[in-house]
Amino acid sequence: MRVFRCRLCGDPYIGNSPPTHCPFCGAPVEFMVPAEEWEEENIGVEIGEISRKNLEEALELELTNAGFYRSAMEKTKNEYFKGMFKALSKVESEHASIISKLLRIKKPEIPDIPAHDDDLENVKESFERESRAIKFYTKSANEAIEERVKEVFTTLVNIESTHLLLDEETKKLFR
Ligand SMILES: [Fe+2]
Ligand SMILES: [Fe+2]
Repeated sequence: MRVFRCRLCGDPYIGNSPPTHCPFCGAPVEFMVPAEEWEEENIGVEIGEISRKNLEEALELELTNAGFYRSAMEKTKNEYFKGMFKALSKVESEHASIISKLLRIKKPEIPDIPAHDDDLENVKESFERESRAIKFYTKSANEAIEERVKEVFTTLVNIESTHLLLDEETKKLFR
């Protein structure tokens, strides 16, 4: 048994080998490093004005998406969707934690964002929310002059793209 830690969110994982994706923030396996090699990278980053504005907007996106998924999880009567929306809510909430660390602020509360009664409507809204995030994070990564901020936004684009794939697979399962 070993301990691995995620280079994006910092959370630890115990196992024989690293998971394909961080169970907390969804980062790909390359981000899972042996705990003895891990170093804090989100605290104490010098951040310029453009990236600060982009991180503040990204925080708002993550918080509202986490709130939306939490409502969708509470509404559904289907255990598949309960699991899916719960996982998405936790991952987006973790993204909000990462961004709060970079901004050196206390992580705000997750707001209540109403979801639809129908699960597939929520999957459709998920697709729109993730697409919006991907577009904004792509732009933010390009604008970032700080190496770490660029890396964080690029990895968030990667992770939110896996959520789009999940939405597609889910639509196929329940068609
Ligand atoms: Fe992570
Ligand atoms: Fe996210």
